[in-house]
Amino acid sequence: MSHDVEQWIADWFAAWTGGWVEAGDEVIRRNLVMKQEHTARVVELVSGLAEAEGLEQGMVRLCRIAAWLHDVGRFPQFFHHRTFADDQSCSHAELSVRECESGPLSWLCPDDASAVRNAVALHSAYAVPGYLTGGPRLVCQLLRDADKLDIWRIVLHHYENGAPPGSLAIGPELAVDGWNPDYVEALLSSRCAVTADKRSITDLRLLQTGWVFDISSTHACRYALREGYIERLLAFLPDNEVMNRVRQHVRGYLKARAGAVPENQGGDD
Ligand SMILES: [Fe+2]
Repeated sequence: MSHDVEQWIADWFAAWTGGWVEAGDEVIRRNLVMKQEHTARVVELVSGLAEAEGLEQGMVRLCRIAAWLHDVGRFPQFFHHRTFADDQSCSHAELSVRECESGPLSWLCPDDASAVRNAVALHSAYAVPGYLTGGPRLVCQLLRDADKLDIWRIVLHHYENGAPPGSLAIGPELAVDGWNPDYVEALLSSRCAVTADKRSITDLRLLQTGWVFDISSTHACRYALREGYIERLLAFLPDNEVMNRVRQHVRGYLKARAGAVPENQGGDD
């Protein structure tokens, strides 16, 4: 794969998504510009993770291409439905693949196109299915890791500073009180919670915290630890004994996965 193919795809992304931004009203523009910026950050994050994993340049470029394309479906999704909630509109990951088939995916050789297609289609799935193996599995896992790192950054910015007016990034109205005990059980068993079952704001925060159990790259764990993403999310859980157990379990898990690198020393990623 030539370096040019990634540049063509980056240029296509800018032009194609720019069209949706230009055609929208103020709310659409604000939310879609946020997705353009998210995509550019995921491209850089996945690059860093892929290089830290020691992947060769062709694989690094494949990861970057998958990142450019992973949220393309968000643009028509939000434009037509004014929500990023898949369960209230459509599967944005499937839509991303559909929108890319006749353009960027057709510019890649069949093996590269297949790896990118799978990574994009599965980037927000509950888990990576067992049939995906080898290089394509790695591309998919690193994309999922990079995506989560940036989503943690975004949601924490909203939690800590308040969501910007007109932003619908966090999701629909959720109950202030209570939590789903299945979520607590999932996290205490080192599993992600199931998105469809969330009812309260605490469920949403447990769900976002539980993504840590899906992170595959040690470098991504170190990045999350260094940025304090999980610790800062845990601070938004209610102050009670059940949530303290969750805090203790998640902290221990992340530190073990990250190789107990102190938060302020960082790694080489
Ligand atoms: Fe996505």
